[in-house]
Amino acid sequence: MPKVTVHRKAHFNAAHRLFNPNWSDEKNAEIFGKCSNPNYHGHNYELIVSLTGEINKETGYVYDLGRLKHIIKTEIEDAFDHKNLNIEVPEFKKLNPSVENIAVVAYNKLRKIVEEEYDIEITLYETPRNFVTYSGE
Ligand code: NI
Repeated sequence: MPKVTVHRKAHFNAAHRLFNPNWSDEKNAEIFGKCSNPNYHGHNYELIVSLTGEINKETGYVYDLGRLKHIIKTEIEDAFDHKNLNIEVPEFKKLNPSVENIAVVAYNKLRKIVEEEYDIEITLYETPRNFVTYSGE
C-alpha cells in the first residue's frame, strides 16, 4: 500500500528561560539575550506531529487522527501547557528548554507510544518565524 504522511496540529503556551548553569549571568545574557531573562518569558508554541505509514486496507487510514489527538493531549499538552518548563517539567530540570530540546522531548514521548511501523516527525514553532523539525536522528 502507498505510504502517506498524516499531520495533526496542536498548541501549547509555556514559559521558559534559556540558561547554562556553568556560565556567568553575563555570558548567559550574551549568548541567549532576552531568552535568558531570569524572570522567565512565554511563547505560544505551535506543534505539528507527522506520522508516515502505509494506508490500512480495511480503514483507508494511515493512523486514526482521533487517537493521535488524544496521545498529543495526554503526552504533550497536559505536560507542557501553561507550565514553566524549567521548573515544572522534569525533562528540563537539567536540559535547556530550547525549541530544539523541546522538540526532542516531545518526539521521545510520542515514540514510546506510537507503534514502531510509523515514522514520526515533530515540527515545533516557537514563534511564527522560528521553528525546528526533528525525526529521531
Ligand atoms: Ni524564549
